[in-house]
Amino acid sequence: MKDKNILIIVTGSIAAYKACEVVRLLRKEGANIQVMMSKSALEFVGRATFAALTDHEVITEMFPNTPKAGLEHIEMAIKLDAIVVVPATANTICKAANGVADDVVSTTLSVCEQPALFAPAMNFRMWQNPATMDAVDKLRKNGSLVLDPEEGQLASLHEGEGRLPDVSVIMNGIRTLFELPLPLVGKKVLVTAGPTREAIDPVRFISNRSSGKMGYALAKATRDLGAEVKLVSGPVSLPPLPEAEMIYVETAKEMADSVQSNCIDVDYLFMVAAVADYSPINPSDKKIKRNSENESIELKPALDILKSIKGKTKGKVIAFALETHDGESEAQRKLSEKGVDYIVLNYANEKGAGFESSTNRVTIFSKSGNQLELKKDRKDRIAQKIIEHVLNN
Ligand code: CTP
Repeated sequence: MKDKNILIIVTGSIAAYKACEVVRLLRKEGANIQVMMSKSALEFVGRATFAALTDHEVITEMFPNTPKAGLEHIEMAIKLDAIVVVPATANTICKAANGVADDVVSTTLSVCEQPALFAPAMNFRMWQNPATMDAVDKLRKNGSLVLDPEEGQLASLHEGEGRLPDVSVIMNGIRTLFELPLPLVGKKVLVTAGPTREAIDPVRFISNRSSGKMGYALAKATRDLGAEVKLVSGPVSLPPLPEAEMIYVETAKEMADSVQSNCIDVDYLFMVAAVADYSPINPSDKKIKRNSENESIELKPALDILKSIKGKTKGKVIAFALETHDGESEAQRKLSEKGVDYIVLNYANEKGAGFESSTNRVTIFSKSGNQLELKKDRKDRIAQKIIEHVLNN
């Protein structure tokens, strides 16, 4: 959504604060955001919040005290790529459907012909009111995208359909306004990323150089294609991925537990984490003190997570193999031994590839026998290509 000009219209609902998160996520994706607020929205969130989030003055007045006294709204409306009304009240929806133009929000909606999305939030009785239902039908018939509100507990503590749709549903709705393809809508994706840590004593551990970048890039790329993403992350210094459910783990055992309990109904499992192969047999519960003798740590093999879930997930499994030598034969061996659908091979000892790097060079081996070599590229683009290959082969 980079460089798209999006108008976010906030109308008066208790859910107005959730629009802040939508604005923040859109800005993060590089969109230019202008916020407009109705009078009643100002009762719920201050204009300063949106001004700070967007770095722009917030439009609240039909006839502001400016040289053009409001005509600038019309000019702005023409430059827009899309309009998102979040939250959309029954009042706004009914006015927009019927061409009422009596305040800054309804006037703007009646002037604009750009693709528009309405994310409703209201009491369930208002949503079921025949006038609202007619207005929703009309807006949809005229080409607007009106999301269905979610069912659950409302601010009034009543149960019913009327809650603002989840932020990730709103984000995917906005993506469809721009006709971005969303082949993973309705699909569940589980991704593991980063290293694991196996304790030696309370202050030391065995780990590896994995940065988590490749796993996070795959999680983001599947999320951008509409998937519902869970990201099981070992200790990394990356920020949490917005719109994904983050599950933080430390040890190979914790990662195994998390994968085993979340993998059953997923459509795709990307096992990108660099899981420990060994862990200390008897980690000390006290700090091991320095002495002049040689010290050795006895290790036991860690559980192979992929082998432990063989046949337990209905989804496609995409594993990674990080090698320093004999890459192709090792990748083929892991493909059959681990019972996975794809192995993505990368090298630890290649410049600009593997751990810690922002770029990677990979070859994808699939169970069906085909092989695809991707040239060195940024990890986010490699992630997109891996997904494209998995979806089409
Ligand atoms: N893997 C796993 N459980 C482990 C170790 C690795 O599920 N305990 C997964 C990784 O997430 C990866 C794949 O297995 O998707 C291959 O990992 P890799 O470290 O390359 O292979 P190993 O099985 O550990 O074999 P080796 O270390 O001998 O190369």
